This record gives sequence, C-alpha cells and structure tokens, in this order.
Amino acid sequence: MELERNAYRAHCLALTYPSQGHINPLLEFSKRLENKGVKVTLVTTHFISKTIHKEAATSNIALETISDGYDEGGEAQAESFKAYFESLRRVGSQTLAELLEKLSTSGCPVNCVVYDPFLPWALDVAKKFGLVGAAFFTQSCAVGNIFYHVYKGVLKVPLSETEILLPGSPPLGAPDMPSFIYQFGISDPVIFDLLVAQFSNIDKADWVLCNTFYELEQEVVDWMAKIWPLRTIGPTIPSMFLDKRLEDDKNYGFDIFKPNTGACMKWLNGQPKGSVVYVSFGSLAAFGVEQMEEIAWGLRMSNRCFLWVVRELEEAKLPKNFVEETSEKGLVVRWCPQLEVLAHEAVGCFVTHCGWNSTLEALSFGVPMVGVPYWSDQSTNLKFIMDVWKMGLKAPADEKGIVRREAAEHCIREIMEGERGKEIKKNAFKWRKLAKEAVDESGSSDKNIEEFVAKLVHS
Ligand code: UDX
Repeated sequence: MELERNAYRAHCLALTYPSQGHINPLLEFSKRLENKGVKVTLVTTHFISKTIHKEAATSNIALETISDGYDEGGEAQAESFKAYFESLRRVGSQTLAELLEKLSTSGCPVNCVVYDPFLPWALDVAKKFGLVGAAFFTQSCAVGNIFYHVYKGVLKVPLSETEILLPGSPPLGAPDMPSFIYQFGISDPVIFDLLVAQFSNIDKADWVLCNTFYELEQEVVDWMAKIWPLRTIGPTIPSMFLDKRLEDDKNYGFDIFKPNTGACMKWLNGQPKGSVVYVSFGSLAAFGVEQMEEIAWGLRMSNRCFLWVVRELEEAKLPKNFVEETSEKGLVVRWCPQLEVLAHEAVGCFVTHCGWNSTLEALSFGVPMVGVPYWSDQSTNLKFIMDVWKMGLKAPADEKGIVRREAAEHCIREIMEGERGKEIKKNAFKWRKLAKEAVDESGSSDKNIEEFVAKLVHS
C-alpha cells in the first residue's frame, strides 16, 4: 500500500460522460497523465463499463464505475433524455461520493476529479471532498465560447441577429451556430439545457482543460483563458499515431460497436495512395432515407473508391442493392477502426458529419474533409474547417436541408482533383505537423499537462 502511494505523484479520478465521443478523449488524456507519473482511475457507468473492450482494461488505468440508475441498458432504457439526465445526476452523484469515500481509505487517495462538464454535479461532489476539480471539455473552445455566452445571457436565443459577434471568434452566421441554438425551439430543449449547464458552476473549477490545441484555436483560447484557468491538452489522439512517446498505447480504445478491422485494412491496402473517399458520420448521426440516398448517389457519381461506415441501424436506409452494385468500387462496413483508416495513405478525402473527434482526427492525420453536418456542434466545426483552418469544403444543402448528389460529387471531385483540393492538401500538411508538435515533448499541450501535474503534486 505504502509503496503504491509513493510510486505515483498524484491520483486523478477521471469521470467520463457515457458516450463514444466523450470516453476516448478522456481515456487518452488519462494515458498522458499516467505517463507523467499520475495514477488515473477512469470512471464510467456500470452499463458502459461492460462494453469497454477488454484490451483497454489491461492498460495501467484502473476502471471503476458509478450508477446512472439504468445499469442494464443505459440511456436507451430511460423513457426520455430528461429522465436519464435527472437519474444520472441523482444516482450518479450519490455513487460518485460512495466511490470517493471508498478510495479515500485506499493506499492512494484521490487528489483530483477530472470531470466531463456534461456532468457539472461531479464538481460539487469533488468540492465536498475538498479535492481539486478539473473540467474536461470534449468539444472545441469555439463551441464552448458560444454556450458560455448563452449561459451569461449575452447571446440571446432564439437568435435575432444573422451575424453573431463574440470575443475570440470570427463573425459567425446564424446557421453556423450549434443546432440547439440555431434551431432553438425545434431541437431538443433538454440537450440545450445540458450544454448551457456546463457553465453553471465552472467558476468553482480549479482547471478548465480542453481537447484542442493552442495553435488551432489561439484567439478563443487566449480570450477564455482570461476568465478561467484554461489549458489546451489535445489533440487526444493515441500517441502511437502522433508523437509515439507512450509505450502502453496499443491498448487504447473504447468502441461502442465492434470494428471490422481486418476487412477494412485489407481492402485499403489494395488501393493506391490518396485514392479513397472515407465516409463516416460518427456514432449518433441518423440521416433520413433521402439524405442517405443522395450521399450514395454522390459517391457513385464521383467514380472514386470509397469506404463507408453505415451503422447497423442505418443500413436499411441505403438504396436497394447499393452494396452489391458498387462492390467493385466500394466497401460498406458497420464500424471501422477510424484512426487506422485516417492514418492509411490510401485515404484522400473524408466525408464527415464534423463531430469534434472526427474533426481533430482528420486535422491530425492531414486528411481533407467534405462536411455534411447532422446536428449539435457540427455546423460550427464545419465553419472553422472551411473558413479558418481551410481544411475542407462544406457540401451545400438545398432548401429542404438535404445535400444533393451533385453537391456531394462536386465537393469530392474538388478535394480529390480540383484546385481547391491542392490548397487544402498544403494546409493539411501544416495542421498535421502542428498537431503532432502540440503533444510532443515541450509542445503547447505537453507543457500544459506538465503544469497541471506539477501543480497537482504540490496541491
Ligand atoms: C458526439 C457528437 O455528435 C459530436 O458532434 C461531438 O463533437 C462529440 O460527441 P459523434 O457523433 O460520435 O460524437 O462524433 P465524433 O466526435 O466524431 O466521434 C466519433 C468517434 O468514433 C471518433 O473518435 C471516431 O474515430 C470513432 N469512430 C467512428 C470509429 O472508431 N469508427 C467508426 O467507424 C466511426
């Protein structure tokens, strides 16, 4: 026991929100902490813990669970989002307190709770135990900045202006706003409340950590860092793909679905460099049949080889016989090892919904993007991808909000063979280099993690 206490510089409990897009960034950050001598205990819900891949559990990071009140089926078991979030808050804070109580008598008591701000109550629990509290944002700082201004009442919803001017941000059009703001009153109010509530107690946080890197979001980071002790610590891409400094890295990963790794990599290995269009809309997006059909036709018309992730529940939306008829050019899978796919030299373009993880991954691997946002922060991410980082194109939608086949085809061709594609590829090289440098030894994110750890040790 005594040996364990001395072996580590500090002990962080890392509490993640239970969904694909939130777990991996915190798990990867945990590995960076572990590498700097901090013990990390990753905490998720009972239900999600059962689905975490065995390999992840074999890493040095311990896994503990709390309850969301739905131990057998998670959120899908709840009658509504509202019921789920309420139960997660109530049962979650109680079981988190029990866990902290248990760990306080272990050989290595917890000094700090790193929590996902989707769970602001975790900070209140940490403070009751007298612990350091660190918010860990899994969305961009630009998006955080928008919701902060809504929280402060500076940005009023429903929006009345067509151009939104916020400090630290370029002018944004109303449709560039996150869907819960732009479509306020139409989209889910419970999720809107959740996003705004991230800031309800943030002034009590000792740290505000963001999964981004300084060079990518410099202006907004500088602005937000005037309000909070904000530090950028990303991109949280496994070290094996970037700086290659962490040994225990192969064990990375939580996948909500089982990836079809063998088939994907074998197929990609047979394709020429830069020739493949990779298509994926993340773990949640559920486009309508019409949109799926237009994408399918756009891919066909581009005449390019493609790898398309269509989750099992979405498969019925594909045009009849699409998979069979396009089998010479395309591979459709239910889930893939996206990091390995984006890192593969055969991939030349990523048709994406612009989820924040996918965006950071494409930037870090230098893969140009065609954006087809679905909801949430994705339109905002796309605005930056296109106009600020110049790493991709927005596939324009018609008045019904559908990206038609011609628009999809045009954007893919522009990236793969057009003039704008050449410009984007030059930028892709730049972002890839900057992302690696940020996490490499003495890079901006590495220094921030070092500072966080050093202060923790002395707290
Ligand atoms: C959600 C939100 O929708 C998104 O807008 C927000 O920014 C984060 O939370 P999700 O829609 O799943 O996430 O998208 P994204 O953030 O891109 O995360 C998807 C993750 O799944 C990525 O890390 C990606 O690498 C991984 N993935 C996706 C796979 O490993 N295999 C796949 O086949 C598809």
